[in-house]
Amino acid sequence: MKYTLITGASSGIGLNLALIFAKNNHNLILVARNKKTLALLKEKLDLLYKIDVKIIPLDISGEVGATNLYKIIKERMLKVDILINNAGIGYHGNFLEKNTQADMDLINLNIITPTILTKLFLQDMIKTKSGKIFNIASTASFQSGPLMSVYYGTKSYLLNFSEGIAEELRDSNIKIVTLCPGPTKTSFEKMDKIEKVHFKNFHIADPEDVAKYLYKNINTKKDILIHGNLNKFMIAFTKFIPRKINLNLVKKIQQKK
Ligand SMILES: NC(=O)c1ccc[n+]([C@@H]2O[C@H](COP(=O)([O-])OP(=O)(O)OC[C@H]3O[C@@H](n4cnc5c(N)ncnc54)[C@H](OP(=O)(O)O)[C@@H]3O)[C@@H](O)[C@H]2O)c1
Repeated sequence: MKYTLITGASSGIGLNLALIFAKNNHNLILVARNKKTLALLKEKLDLLYKIDVKIIPLDISGEVGATNLYKIIKERMLKVDILINNAGIGYHGNFLEKNTQADMDLINLNIITPTILTKLFLQDMIKTKSGKIFNIASTASFQSGPLMSVYYGTKSYLLNFSEGIAEELRDSNIKIVTLCPGPTKTSFEKMDKIEKVHFKNFHIADPEDVAKYLYKNINTKKDILIHGNLNKFMIAFTKFIPRKINLNLVKKIQQKK
C-alpha cells in the first residue's frame, strides 16, 4: 500500500491538502504535534473515505525530529510515494530584537527538516524508481523580507534547494516541485502579529484553494508552482525593479501601521 505523507497536517494548508488527497483516494500519513487534532481528522476521514489514514503526532523540527519521523515510518513498513514538506513557522520582527532560539526554531523546521526528509525519502524513491516530493515554500522565496528576514531566508533556501534537486533528477522518474503560496488565511497569519502587518496589504487566499491548486497540478512538469495570478504578476514584476527599491517596498509593507 502506498501513502502520501503530509507534514503539518493539523491546520491550514496541510489540513486542506489532507482533505483533498483523501477525497482523491490517497492513503495518508498525517504528521503534526497536536495529537488530538490529528485524531479528530483521522476520525472524519475514516468516516468519509475508504482510505487508510495513519497519524503520527510528533515534533519533526530539526535533524532529530526529521530522523525520528523517518524511523517511525520505516518501523511501520509504510511506503511513501508522495512526500509533502508543508510544516513551517514564521515570526515577524526586527532580527536584532528576536532571541537566537526563535531563529533556530525557524531554521530547524523550515530548512533542516525538509532537507533531511527530502534526502531520506528520495533515497527510497530512487530505489523504486518512482515518487513525488512537494516542498511548500512561499512567494517570500523570491526576495529578501525586512522584518521577516529569517523567514524569507528559509523560504528562499527551500526554493533554491528544491529547484537544484529537480534538475539533478531531470532524467529520473522522480519529480520534485516547489509550491509557492502567497498570503493565505491560516493560523500562520496570527503568529507573532504577522496578520496586522503582512496580511492587511494583500489579497489573502483561502487554504482550500491553495490545496486544490497543488492537487490540480499533481502531475505538473513544472519545477515551481506559484499560486494566484496576482502573486505570479508580483514575482515577475520584482525582477524588473532594482533590488534596493524592492527591499524598501517590502519593508514598508511589513512595517506596523
Ligand atoms: N499562511 C501563509 O500565508 C503562507 C504563505 C506562504 C507559505 N506558507 C507556508 O505554508 C506552510 C503551511 O503553513 P500554514 O499557513 O498552513 O500554517 P499553519 O496553519 O500554522 O500550519 C502549520 C502546520 O505545521 C505544524 N507544525 C508546526 N510546528 C511543527 C513541528 N515542530 N513539528 C511538526 N509539525 C509542526 C502545525 O501543527 P502543530 O502545531 O500541531 O504541530 C500545523 O499543522 C508553511 O511552510 C508556511 O511557511 C504559508
